[in-house]
Amino acid sequence: MSDRNNATAALADVAAEPGVAKPDPLLVADNVQRSFGGLHAVDVDHLEIQRGAITALIGPNGAGKTTLFNVLTGFDRGGSGDWRFEGKKMSRLPAHRVAHRGMVRTFQLTKALSRLTVLENLQLGATEQRGEAMFASVVRPLWRRQERAIIERADALLARFRLDHLRDEFAGTLSGGQRKLLELARALMVQPRMLMLDEPMAGVNPALTQSLLEHITDLRDEGTTICFVEHDMDMVMGTSDWVVCLAEGQVIAEGPPQAIGSNPAVIDAYLGKQHGAPPAEELTS
Ligand SMILES: Nc1ncnc2c1ncn2[C@@H]1O[C@H](COP(=O)(O)OP(=O)(O)O)[C@@H](O)[C@H]1O
Ligand SMILES: [Mg+2]
Repeated sequence: MSDRNNATAALADVAAEPGVAKPDPLLVADNVQRSFGGLHAVDVDHLEIQRGAITALIGPNGAGKTTLFNVLTGFDRGGSGDWRFEGKKMSRLPAHRVAHRGMVRTFQLTKALSRLTVLENLQLGATEQRGEAMFASVVRPLWRRQERAIIERADALLARFRLDHLRDEFAGTLSGGQRKLLELARALMVQPRMLMLDEPMAGVNPALTQSLLEHITDLRDEGTTICFVEHDMDMVMGTSDWVVCLAEGQVIAEGPPQAIGSNPAVIDAYLGKQHGAPPAEELTS
């Protein structure tokens, strides 16, 4: 049985209902809320993310997907609620502590620093996500050993993503798709247990999209839990083991990909907000 089948099979008996319990949840979130003025951007009663699976987070533009990622990963600390990762409370931890626990995200708009080289971006990813201060550089021998390990890991990731020939180029010279790969590589510098990818495929050409998808499924097959935001329903159907649909901040539907495509609440949500969302016929095809 392939890993996708394993991950999908583990969820086979789970009811397609918002907030449903999973057999082996890595992340469990309760009452997650984030408002901007009077707008309830996120208002999630209960959500569980199954370990070892690829969960797609879908929903029309403005549904609150990015905000939910921001709150759960500690980049936005203006929210409230309780969430646990591996059974341990993670709510209200700052981003670097969240990353240290093993939950790492990428951004909808890539954060690659264009005036640093590709390698330097990865080095920065390793230290930034561990929340290390520059004083570490004072502790020379230890620092050097760490630095070597970081460079080795960076080189391995660059080879894996076929970016090795760009190692010493400025990140600013990379194509949009290559930046997405760099962003993924940077997130992997800390060997996360869970990857949160915000529109990893946006702006990536079809050839690179295929390779990104393969990297994502490979990571799942190696045991990484993945949650990704995606608009392209073909991508969602082709990759995910489970789909969660957000609308106006709330989970309005979740279930296996096939069930979600024909879910009336999901179709309604997309019809209600045409803004850049996939047309409804894409959902039912
Ligand atoms: N920093 C912010 N200040 C005010 N409103 C925001 C902010 N961030 C997001 N929003 C609003 O919250 C809602 C959810 O946005 P977002 O999470 O980006 O949605 P999605 O990622 O699903 O497209 C939108 O209405 C958006 O305008
Ligand atoms: Mg978004």
